[in-house]
Amino acid sequence: MQGELSPIDRAKFAAAKRSCAFVESGMRVGLGTGSTAAWMVRGLGERVREEGLKIRGVPTSSRTAALAREMGIEVVTLDEARWLDVTIDGADEFDADLNLIKGGGGAHLQEKIVATASDQMIVIADPAKEVAHLGAFPLPLEVIPFGLNATRALVEEALESLDVFGRETVLRMDGDTPFVTDEGNHVLDLHLKRIGNPRQLSLVVNQIPGVVENGLFIDICDVVVIGEGDGRVEVRDINAGTITHDRVEIPENDNLFSDI
Ligand code: 5RP
Repeated sequence: MQGELSPIDRAKFAAAKRSCAFVESGMRVGLGTGSTAAWMVRGLGERVREEGLKIRGVPTSSRTAALAREMGIEVVTLDEARWLDVTIDGADEFDADLNLIKGGGGAHLQEKIVATASDQMIVIADPAKEVAHLGAFPLPLEVIPFGLNATRALVEEALESLDVFGRETVLRMDGDTPFVTDEGNHVLDLHLKRIGNPRQLSLVVNQIPGVVENGLFIDICDVVVIGEGDGRVEVRDINAGTITHDRVEIPENDNLFSDI
């Protein structure tokens, strides 16, 4: 990675850095996917190397697994870990109830399995991810390649009766070919603009046989850590009902990139 960090990247760094303080030796930690989660993996790697922090990490994607190994974190499968103390991951949107849209990176299936097998899920985000209503970010659906067009037609039919503002479905591409997830599936991005009832929508689309999982995380996230570009951090704990403020130091770019 090269170059100047944008204010958003600095905000992501601040949130990720603060989230590393939730992790203690002996913990089994779910490691999220995306640019914010990558800063968290680097931060935990730094603690492993410099403080001797002993953790086992369960990555939520092949990309995160490679980065975690590179950073010196012991990587195990979810079945080896059995249950996790905490999962730390990014999000594409979060609302006041800490319900989320995830899957912008196409990893929401593993991310949801890992987060729901954890005592606690912590989301790390920049302020732009906070929304009054979920749905401006396209909702990813992981779908099986077999019968893709039939599945897509059933999804579009289901959307007709759901409380959403938009109903366009877009097959995610990777260049000229459909994007393929770590599980060998494709992703349909639903451009819904605003989701009136996320819980209902999640249940309805998951009933369609070709749909493996959607990117709505309802009642899964416990804590959100929101970073600002100047190093200020807000930590909201939905269960404790607390909001605390903190500050993390953002090193100069040269130091930030030194271990990457
Ligand atoms: C990947 C995800 C990511 O957490 C989400 O897309 C946020 O990514 P970033 O931290 O790069 O903004 O859900 O599937």
